[in-house]
Formats: sequence, structure tokens, C-alpha cells
Amino acid sequence: MYEIYSDILKTLEEHSHLRSIKNFSKKDEKYVYFGEKRLLNLSSNNYLGIADNRRITEEFMKAIGGKYSFGSASARLLTGNLPVYRDLENLLANLYNKEAALLYNSGYHANVGISSAIGQKGDVIFSDKLNHASIIDGMQLSHGKFFRYQHNNMDSLEILLARERKNYQNAIIITESVFSMDGDIADLKRIIELKKKYNCLLIIDEAHAFGVFGEKGLGIAEMLGIIDEIDLLIGTFGKSIGSMGAFVVGSKPLIDFLINKSRSFIFSTALPPINVAFTKWVIENKLPDTYEKRQNMLELGRKMGSESHIVPYIIGDNQKTVEMCEILYQNGFFTLPIRPPTVPDGTSRIRISLTTEITEKDLEKLWNIIG
Ligand SMILES: Cc1ncc(COP(=O)(O)O)c(C=O)c1O
Repeated sequence: MYEIYSDILKTLEEHSHLRSIKNFSKKDEKYVYFGEKRLLNLSSNNYLGIADNRRITEEFMKAIGGKYSFGSASARLLTGNLPVYRDLENLLANLYNKEAALLYNSGYHANVGISSAIGQKGDVIFSDKLNHASIIDGMQLSHGKFFRYQHNNMDSLEILLARERKNYQNAIIITESVFSMDGDIADLKRIIELKKKYNCLLIIDEAHAFGVFGEKGLGIAEMLGIIDEIDLLIGTFGKSIGSMGAFVVGSKPLIDFLINKSRSFIFSTALPPINVAFTKWVIENKLPDTYEKRQNMLELGRKMGSESHIVPYIIGDNQKTVEMCEILYQNGFFTLPIRPPTVPDGTSRIRISLTTEITEKDLEKLWNIIG
């Protein structure tokens, strides 16, 4: 009975697609350990070095952590709500100057819940081809139709809008701001022109930009001064903030709609209160002091040829990508091979992600290996 699954695994292995969970013995700021072997972690989303940072954890626990429990035991709409959730939502709504905010348990929950709810019967969603799996899954669950335009290609988007927009009631454009696997940045100014021309809602996922870009660290929309033009802006806490969860900010009617229609919000136990308190504490107490460090990280990313702190090193072939990761491992660097279906066929790569703690000197040996 299990044969069918074993055969699928065998095929995955034959094509160097098999995934496995890594057994680290310990993680400590910018390093991961396998037994006693210490490696520089170049695969983390811990962009501000907050996760795995014992000093920061202890500071939080001493300041306020002891007041909060580790489980909410219920969904927000049942008994899983406390002032700290509302406080964090108010903080985010104020930071973005939006009417309301809503917390989700993760970026995955947020995208699945939002994309599936917002596209009602008779509606249409236009999505960048390289948008995250959670957006794709959400669109597949929605009752609307969706089209995927070529990656960050505004001509492709406009061709679809011109052809399809008139056939639907509501239209939604959805894109990441910093693309998770390529590190490039969406052409948001042009997307906003198209949104206006074709009367669409605009949803931006700032998962990899929140805590990195913008004077206050709010993301690309803050950096470009276009927050007002965005109908729903999503950010995550599991990356830069070193916590867990996600948020969406927007107008009150849209957030109320999500509270009523977004199934991943309605039917899931709320985040642990201690986690929500930690997120709020980091945003209030740690994020404001990171501007200079963030600029240095982005400068290093630019030197490595990227528009952001995410630097794709594209090799193409699956097996060669796995082999290069092994060479890097032997030289003290922890990287992961990123292969289809996470990225398109023939574009297997090593996704190098920088953090504010990684210095140019840390990477000297890497240059000699990958050139
Ligand atoms: C663009 C994007 N959105 C959402 C997510 C999911 O966020 P989370 O890890 O909080 O579920 C990711 C995860 O890497 C992502 O890259």
C-alpha cells in the first residue's frame, strides 16, 4: 500500500529532488553546528540576527516574557484573544498609517487565507509567476480565476489586464516585493499605474522586505513612499523579526472581510501570547536601531550583484548544485540547494541570504570557491 509513495520518493531521489530535514546540533546567531562542526549560515532568513540570539531572548524574558503563556488554546474568534494581539495589530496599523491590521499564524497562513478569500466567484487575480507557493495555493483554493504573468514583466501583466480585466467583477494584482528566491524587487511603481488604469486591488507580500528596507524597516513600500496605494500589505515575523507569525494591514472593510472569510485565520489556534509579545517587543525596541546595519547588509548584497540581501547563485543543473553545496560545506559554509519545483526547471541554485551579522570578511573564502 505504501509502494506508490516509496516509488515517488525514489523518483525524486533519482532527479536530485529529494528533500530531507537537517539535523543541526545547535544554532547560535550566524552559525549552525553539526556536532562540533561550525558553519556560517548562508541559508537563513534571520536577516537581523535576532533569532537564535541568546542575549536578546534573555533580555526579553527578563523585561516582560514572564507575563505571557506559551499557548492560546483557541482561535482568535473563540477564546484565543488577549490585549497583546490587539496591541500588536494597533502598532502595525499605526506604523503603516492604515485603518486596521490582522495577525496570522505564519506568512503561509496569511497568503493562503488572503488569496483564497479575496478572489470571490466572478473575480480575477493576476499573480507574478514567481510568487511564493502560499500565494499559489491560496489562489487555487479561491473561487475566482487567476492568471500568472511573466516574472516582474509589466508588459506581460498589461497584456493580461487588457485582455481579461473586463470579463470579471473585481480584479486583484498580487506580488512579492523582494522575491524570495531571486532577490530582485518588483516594479511596484509601474504596478500601481496599472492597478489604477485597470481598476484593481493591489496586494503586496513584503515577507523578505519587512525589517530590511525602508527607514523604519517597514519594507519596499515604505522606501518608495507608496504605502497608501496598496490595499493589503502583508509582512511576516518569522524572518527579520526572529519570531513567528504574520500580519496584513489595510482598510477596515477589507480587514473585517478577512476576519469573516479567511479560513486560515478563522479555523486555527491563535499564536502563543508570548510569541506575539516578543514580536511587539522586537518591533518597538530592536527594529528602530537597525537602520545602519541594514544599509551595510544591502550594500554587501549589491556588491554580490543583487538588488537585495538575497543573492541567487544559479548553477542550473540539480546534481551540480547539490555538489557545490557539499564543497561549500567542506569549507565551512552552510548553504542549501534550491531546486524545482521551488524554482523553475533548469534554474537550480544556491540561495545565499545575508544577515546584518555577516561581514565581507566572513565571505572571503566563498569568493575563491564560487568566483
Ligand atoms: C514571499 C513569502 N511569503 C510568505 C512566506 C511564508 O512565510 P512563513 O515562513 O511565515 O510561513 C515565505 C516563506 O519563505 C515567503 O518567501
